[in-house]
Amino acid sequence: MASYDVIIIGAGPGGYVSAIRCAQLGLKTAIVEGRETLGGTCLNVGCIPSKALLHATHMLHEAEHNFADMGLKGKSPSVDWNQMKSYKEDVIGQNTGGIEFLMKKNKVDWIKGWASIPAAGQVKVGDDTHEAKNIVIASGSVPSSLPGVEIDEKIVVTSTGALDLPKVPKKMVVIGAGVIGLELGSVYARLGSEVTVVEYLDAVCPGMDKDVQRGFKRILEKQGLTFIMGAAVQGVDATKTKAKVKYALKKTPDTEEVIDADVVLVATGRKPYAEGLGLDALGVKMTERGQIATDAQWRTNVPGVFAIGDVIEGPMLAHKAEDEGMAVADVIAGKHGHVNYGVIPGVVYTTPEVATVGATEDALKAEGRKVKVGKFNFMANARAKAVHQAEGGFVKIITDKETDRVLGAAIIGPGAGDLIHEICVAMEFGASAEDIALTCHAHPTYSEAVREAALACGNGAIHS
Ligand code: NAI
Repeated sequence: MASYDVIIIGAGPGGYVSAIRCAQLGLKTAIVEGRETLGGTCLNVGCIPSKALLHATHMLHEAEHNFADMGLKGKSPSVDWNQMKSYKEDVIGQNTGGIEFLMKKNKVDWIKGWASIPAAGQVKVGDDTHEAKNIVIASGSVPSSLPGVEIDEKIVVTSTGALDLPKVPKKMVVIGAGVIGLELGSVYARLGSEVTVVEYLDAVCPGMDKDVQRGFKRILEKQGLTFIMGAAVQGVDATKTKAKVKYALKKTPDTEEVIDADVVLVATGRKPYAEGLGLDALGVKMTERGQIATDAQWRTNVPGVFAIGDVIEGPMLAHKAEDEGMAVADVIAGKHGHVNYGVIPGVVYTTPEVATVGATEDALKAEGRKVKVGKFNFMANARAKAVHQAEGGFVKIITDKETDRVLGAAIIGPGAGDLIHEICVAMEFGASAEDIALTCHAHPTYSEAVREAALACGNGAIHS
């Protein structure tokens, strides 16, 4: 048994970042993690492994589709799936090992095992009960399924199983055209699977800018993904080798449609995870959606117990959890912790990437705000054309009509996930589109498209 200023439960991006910041602020800190490695869902079975597979399969796509055009002749590479998976495992190992190093460097104790909170000020792991002046719950989320869909992680898989399939399936059905479905659907389409995405709504990526939804779907269709939209999946019948996905189209709700698959990826969202913590007995207040309820400083209703990340309200994004992790550490150390929830970017790491931040044009108009929209197509960006990534991509900036202040942006195109941060910084500083337009942007870069979209909010873009 040991005594700490802070014990953090869960070593995902929220938890481990919080631990480092707590230690930097001079607090005696421990982190509890039951997995064999640190880094949570993101590093072990989420963001990082999927990015490794997206990168590898993008290289394959380039070899198959663009090499010859660039004068790189020869046979396309063949896929050694086991080697690709071991490359992915190596990437995971490097990153989780890096977090372990950071814990040691910052003198954060890793208490191995699964935690519960028998009382405020106490964290129990195995047979040991540790004392903590403050407890931060950062226990994350797990995939949520649908009624009538039983996950076996072999034929009917979540993202976790999809990252580690024994072989590349001939036919994959993806349920849900959200971020996970489209990223992993892209991976398997590039590997040669016949990928069909079944989505309940009429657009991909719920909540995103409408132009992006339309353009993104078109691009993915060109890459070989098939979409069945307006279709509610009602169940999956699986054998040991195959599955049948049953769905009904919204326009013919009484007719059951069936589609065959070798593997079904269920990507219909995630749910907060707080199992085994003993929150009921502790009397921690939950929201109607099963999240831990917190105030604006991540305090639960139990004194000394805080919560951050996917287990509380807000977008389930690693970087949102990280920001909360740093901010809650500041609060615990008696400083002012703050997260600007209005400026949290969202990125889909397909090729091209999709990135958004702030409000959408539609949401602002629905509020009655008068807005200006500046749009610039990557077809007129020299650099994007040089790398075969201009088609269908654009930057769209939305500003207040009166003040020119940037209120939101959406980008489809090369490096969108990095480009969006120029807009994020602009929004944090309350900048106008003119501020971006007056900033010199190096030529030839993708970022010129951001400047051009900003120019389009004023007197007009130069290259269109
Ligand atoms: P999601 O909430 O983004 O998308 C789920 C989709 O499934 C929705 O479009 C929904 O309409 C559809 N759906 C639900 N029930 C259905 C049914 N019965 N039949 C057909 N379609 C149905 O969830 P997703 O993609 O599973 O991601 C989970 C979380 O993980 C999200 O919060 C996401 O932001 C996060 N994430 C973020 C990543 C990133 O930032 N790159 C990568 C992976 C996950």
